[in-house]
Amino acid sequence: MTPSARPSLTAILSALPEEQHGLLEQLQGAHKQTVAGRDFWLGQLHGQPVALGLSRIGKVSATLTAAVLIGHFGASRIVFTGVAGGLAPGIKVGDVVVAHDFIQHDLDASPLFPRYEVPLYGRSRFLCDPALTALLTMAADRALATSSSAASPIWDGAQVHTGLIASGDRFVSSADESSRLQAALHGAGHTALAVEMEGAAVAQVCADYGVAFAAMRTISDRADDTAHIDFPTFVADVASQYARRIMDELMPSLPAPT
Ligand code: ADE
Repeated sequence: MTPSARPSLTAILSALPEEQHGLLEQLQGAHKQTVAGRDFWLGQLHGQPVALGLSRIGKVSATLTAAVLIGHFGASRIVFTGVAGGLAPGIKVGDVVVAHDFIQHDLDASPLFPRYEVPLYGRSRFLCDPALTALLTMAADRALATSSSAASPIWDGAQVHTGLIASGDRFVSSADESSRLQAALHGAGHTALAVEMEGAAVAQVCADYGVAFAAMRTISDRADDTAHIDFPTFVADVASQYARRIMDELMPSLPAPT
């Protein structure tokens, strides 16, 4: 069956199983398919057909997972739920950043092309789908508004931010590196709120296929000297619950996939 002959579906990507398991627990009629050595879970969330995928870590792995979701499973939109390191001042652990657009902070084909520009695309930044991003932002706002309840997994005082996210094949784990990365981006006119390792790759694949993309990242660490301690703790204990809460709000608000 060609992708266009299949009923289309919403794909939800997470980087790691720990970030995905809350969604998997809720999946109705779950069945697994393995493609390119990766497990994909198909089923229904809130009555909508979905495919859950793991990008794993890094841009190459994320690219392949996104291409399989679109080319093999016929995903008509992709939502990424994961974690990121906070870069800009005021982006705290426990906050959520919804991506407006993405840049690859480690892409440098200068002097052939300007630093950060994706060669032959003529641009450095890939925009997320505005309508899907608006729905995701509203879903995150609603989910975080419940943080005052004792049963809520959402951290007290957590805020939703929207802006540029920088992706690269590095775990940023010192305040020094974080400052250098921010200063270099800033010098080229880019102010990134957060850093992670996959989103820009998925944004580029989605742009190439004309598939809607939106992404939310919960801040697990400040990309500083304690990031390597904060990240695994947050991923193990909190990330999946944020993803589940926000997807619970998002799924019923999505128009039926086309
Ligand atoms: N994802 C979460 N924290 C990160 C960091 N500090 N660097 C890169 N990716 C991350």
